[in-house]
Amino acid sequence: MSVLARETGIEELLATFGAQWLPAQPLHAHTSLAVGGPADLVRLSDTRRLPELMAYLQRQGVAWRLLAGGTNLLVVDEGCDDVVLQLVRGSNGMKFDGRRVEVPAAASLGATVTECARRNLGGLEGLIGIPGTVGGALWMNAGAYGTQIGSVVRVVTCYRGATGNVEVLRAKDLRFGYRHSGFAADDVLLSVLLELPERPYAEIVERIKEYNQLRRATQPIHEKSAGCIFKNPPGQSAGKLIDALGLKGTRVGGAVVSERHANFIVNRYAATASDILKLMEMVRERVLKSYGIELEEEVVVWRK
Ligand code: EPU
Repeated sequence: MSVLARETGIEELLATFGAQWLPAQPLHAHTSLAVGGPADLVRLSDTRRLPELMAYLQRQGVAWRLLAGGTNLLVVDEGCDDVVLQLVRGSNGMKFDGRRVEVPAAASLGATVTECARRNLGGLEGLIGIPGTVGGALWMNAGAYGTQIGSVVRVVTCYRGATGNVEVLRAKDLRFGYRHSGFAADDVLLSVLLELPERPYAEIVERIKEYNQLRRATQPIHEKSAGCIFKNPPGQSAGKLIDALGLKGTRVGGAVVSERHANFIVNRYAATASDILKLMEMVRERVLKSYGIELEEEVVVWRK
């Protein structure tokens, strides 16, 4: 339970910020891995109200975390005591202007790729099939098949915890790296301006089809997962290393190392977060012992 849950009239108070109070929500219902205990959720659709809401949380000394699409997130079975903020897409959609498009952080990444394709804007095809929101993808600098979202970003509009203001950050001031962006833990991304190359619709669709096919053939897209669980060590593929140790199919409780891609742990038999964490630890130990390589988590882990 969060400190906010102890306040009387919190639902009405949050409503004055345009926010919705959803106490004790099971986070397994909000994550693609489908594990995780309860947390108090505060949902906001009008992001213009965010600074007021954040100022209130700060005054009250309320710790918070931001939940985006929940597709690269492992929440422990105990849930978490911090308030969980979630931005939901309000009425403001994507705004196109020539080769540029402004996208709300809460927009789905997949829908963004296809909507841009309809306007003859390409360059995002490799990202098709990555679940989650544009904000989440940006936070992780999500990428696949040679495309990283950071490379097409021009400007990010972001609430900065450090200043309490909404700021506009230019791409050159951001430090995108492999599965890394330069944002601070208390930054909340609000929208992003992408600049994309013009391409014929048919050509973009053809590439989207190819990437979808490739992903279907090599990744367990129909099972519950958080995508790749470990980052690739420099110059190596974590999946290949884990596979070579014969760990595909290794099971702890309901969690299994995918037979299709060894860097995916899937929740196949009603796994708990603890099953997944144990399996991750086993894999990590084996990789360390056999290759002397310490695998780093790619999945974001929320501990209580
Ligand atoms: N491989 C195996 N066994 C496996 C998995 C892979 O031998 O179980 C081999 C493949 O045959 C290939 C090599 O390893 O020769 C690389 O495999 P793949 O092309 O699948 O790429 P990856 O390095 O395993 C990365 C990203 C994926 C992204 C793909 C495609 C990371 C941690 N993973 O995987 O991203 O979809 O490239 O570009 O960077 C994610 O971030 O969640 C994710 C899934």
